Amino acid sequence: MIDTVEPIKTERLLLRPFTDGDEDDMFAFESLPEVARYLYNEPRTREGNATELAVRMRQTGLGKEGDTVVLAIELAGTVIGYTLLSWLSEQHEQGEFGYVLHPDHHGRGYASEASVEMLRLGFEQLGLHRIVGRCDARNAGSPRLMERLGMRQEAHFVEAEIFKGEWGEELHYAMLAREWQNSPWAS
Ligand SMILES: CC(C)(COP(=O)(O)OP(=O)(O)OC[C@H]1O[C@@H](n2cnc3c(N)ncnc32)[C@H](O)[C@@H]1OP(=O)(O)O)[C@@H](O)C(=O)NCCC(=O)NCCS
Repeated sequence: MIDTVEPIKTERLLLRPFTDGDEDDMFAFESLPEVARYLYNEPRTREGNATELAVRMRQTGLGKEGDTVVLAIELAGTVIGYTLLSWLSEQHEQGEFGYVLHPDHHGRGYASEASVEMLRLGFEQLGLHRIVGRCDARNAGSPRLMERLGMRQEAHFVEAEIFKGEWGEELHYAMLAREWQNSPWAS
């Protein structure tokens, strides 16, 4: 267990807990239809954004199974997205990661640079055995990111749920601790 995740400095980014002062930066991407398109939430209103920010400000540690840590992705003083790690199972040592980036900053590897740190956190600090990532099959950038990180596609669920009013398709990717150890990112 990790009571509080410490801020993480990468080559270009700072990953750290959300604070009150992040409301405008967060709204800048949370309000965009193209960001919400393949997420379960709708584009956020000002009020919904503030409510979600209050939730994220409390998601700072992985004290027990079921907890999620959410870290703001900061680039040169501006929050441009977030990345997260959920502790799915203590008994089975399983986790799930995720990532969201402002479209103005896509295509520069920032989401990969940030989310690989969630894999590191899960494998090297929490001691997880397997971390999964799930995405909509139509969300092209997301499977590309997971493949770039060396994750394996394990499943493609076809029309297994109704997503935003239409049949959805979900891809499941995973990485095992031993695969992480053999990856270029392992410490
Ligand atoms: C999914 C998402 C995070 C991917 O963002 P992204 O910027 O494409 O992802 P990466 O950080 O991995 O960047 C990779 C791209 O940057 C390019 N790049 C440039 N410099 C790079 C660098 N130093 N390192 C790695 N990639 C680099 C890569 O070539 C790649 O380009 P490509 O997409 O044309 O192949 C983004 O589309 C997003 O936030 N979408 C909205 C929210 C969402 O759907 N989240 C996922 C839910 S499952």
